[in-house]
Amino acid sequence: MSPKCLRDSLRQALHRREAKLCRRKLTVLPSSSVDFSSNDFLSLSTSPALRARFLDHLKQAPPLHPFASGGSRLLDGNSAYAEELEDFIAAFHNAPSGLLFNSGFDANVGVLSTIPQPGDLIVYDELIHASAHEGMRLSRAGKTVKFSHSSPESLKTVLRTEITSEPQLLEAGRNVFIVVESVYSMDGDVAPIREFIEIVDRLLPRKNGYFIVDEAHATGVFGPRGAGVVQQLGVEDRIFIRTHTFGKALASHGAIVLCCPDTRDYLINYARTLIYTTALGFPFLASVRTAYELLIDGETEQLQRNLEQLIRYFRSQLERLTSWGSSTFEVDHFTSSPIFSLRSRVPRRLASFCQQQGYIVRAIMSPTVPEGKERVRVCLHAGNTVEEIDGLIETIEMWLHQMERKAARL
Ligand SMILES: Cc1ncc(COP(=O)(O)O)c(C=O)c1O
Repeated sequence: MSPKCLRDSLRQALHRREAKLCRRKLTVLPSSSVDFSSNDFLSLSTSPALRARFLDHLKQAPPLHPFASGGSRLLDGNSAYAEELEDFIAAFHNAPSGLLFNSGFDANVGVLSTIPQPGDLIVYDELIHASAHEGMRLSRAGKTVKFSHSSPESLKTVLRTEITSEPQLLEAGRNVFIVVESVYSMDGDVAPIREFIEIVDRLLPRKNGYFIVDEAHATGVFGPRGAGVVQQLGVEDRIFIRTHTFGKALASHGAIVLCCPDTRDYLINYARTLIYTTALGFPFLASVRTAYELLIDGETEQLQRNLEQLIRYFRSQLERLTSWGSSTFEVDHFTSSPIFSLRSRVPRRLASFCQQQGYIVRAIMSPTVPEGKERVRVCLHAGNTVEEIDGLIETIEMWLHQMERKAARL
């Protein structure tokens, strides 16, 4: 294919997306707009306390301390600082050990592409993140099967069906991995992890069912001092791997995989997303350390409480809006979650109306969410104010009135 042909085919693909109203575009919204979109749930990215501590960490580094890591963890990119940070975070999460990755994406790909062995079965929630799908695509597991989102009944059915068609799955030496998130990014709902554990214990009595739980959206927000849902439930011992990411509520970058030392060692030997990439440099490690110090010292607990209050307030205001029965608008919300889903047939119009009024919210379209489940995603932050929430509610109300007037004219 000549370069021109290639460019033509790329353009055609983009035109097809445009025609289906699902072409993705990078956007920069004015910094004066109010953030109701980012995953900065605790507003730590603008926290003076975080900034002061972080700068202090940087200043404490000895002169000429390298700010770049200089290579992969396996070559020159390792440091006592990185290893101490892993132990520090693992202790907070009540885990035997931890391994840093450059991102949650890398962590999920690293874990899922290496840990399941040939012949193993992976059973996954249908709404797990794209990075887990990428990891499974590269995995050597014999089979991957999805179950309906957060449905214990569906997990039971899938496991029973697989065990019936392949009774060897009950034998030692064959492994079954159950892959879930603790809090889902689009609906903000919390997975019924306890119920899942009961089912797996019952159906796999030889204890060869291994949970892999992605806590990306729970980190910092859910559980004691933001330690996550697994610790909130006290089921750390039953989870084979937990992944916490630092790019959301922790206002940093990277991720940690919490696991037993053997699993950590195996990942160091086989996970290509760890082996063949430059490790996080000192400033990133220091910013992760800073965020965890704030969690451990309890300095984020007040932020967690602010956030909870704002969630309750926004929810009550939305209930008022939906109670006047507009058919253009529905709200999905899981109690205590900062993520709200405003379901509309025209989410792009609602999002752009809010953006014009100075409120950053985003339309989430298929294929990021299943077709028919397009929505405007609203994320609350500890630093949002009641006045900002009132402003957003007023804006949504104005838009609903406009939609009604338009519908009446037709
Ligand atoms: C559930 C989940 N897992 C993993 C990731 C990837 O994490 P990161 O942004 O650190 O690559 C994300 C981020 O979008 C996510 O939502």
